[in-house]
Amino acid sequence: MAGRAVARDPKQIVARGYDAIALRYAEWVGRVSSPAIEWLRDLDARLPDGADVLELGCGRGVPGTRHLAKRHRVTGVDISAVQIELARHHVPEASFVHADALELEVAPGSVDAVVALSFFGHVPVGEQRELIGRIALWLRDGGLLLATFGAGEPGEEVDEDWLGAPMFFASLGGDSYLPLLHEVGLMPLREEVVVQHEPGHGDVAFHWVLARA
Ligand SMILES: C[S@@+](CC[C@H](N)C(=O)[O-])C[C@H]1O[C@@H](n2cnc3c(N)ncnc32)[C@H](O)[C@@H]1O
Repeated sequence: MAGRAVARDPKQIVARGYDAIALRYAEWVGRVSSPAIEWLRDLDARLPDGADVLELGCGRGVPGTRHLAKRHRVTGVDISAVQIELARHHVPEASFVHADALELEVAPGSVDAVVALSFFGHVPVGEQRELIGRIALWLRDGGLLLATFGAGEPGEEVDEDWLGAPMFFASLGGDSYLPLLHEVGLMPLREEVVVQHEPGHGDVAFHWVLARA
């Protein structure tokens, strides 16, 4: 990643971007080779019935919210109004909040699991540490985090034409996340760097982590 400064408001770029490309993203991501369902099943199997699950960057509610809402009380959060509208349509049994995840007020120790798939890659570098620390506080003792993180170089960048709209991307760098999770008391139960093929973009590596508070 280039690591150059991003002059425009990253949150606005992300929100407007997903508002514009929500349907195109849905079609495109369906062609990406992702291990999401297998990791979601693993998380699900470790949770009691009716667990309180918070999904950050839930997108259109697929695959995460839809999978977990079969057995749990899921609240999905997304900064894109269009994504939230689609999610309400796809998973009417779940609750949704249209908000920046960084602005959420969640009571400490009130959540059994937090899910954040393909989400951290859109959070500015300066906010990722704080958010990971907050997630650790939101989780009950023994609560679980299922997340993906960028596995590449640290930095921030704007792709001016990502599936048809400008999009903001960020990473603390692949080596940063495990030490950070340890620091805030989230112990990895399982972690793996997975390279997925993204049509039009090539091979992209993500660090998948399932961690316990
Ligand atoms: C790549 S999509 C992933 C959607 C879904 N989790 C999935 O696995 O397909 C990222 C989603 O995160 C949302 N997002 C990015 N930054 C956010 C923020 N600060 N607060 C809430 N949602 C955010 C975007 O609007 C978008 O819907």
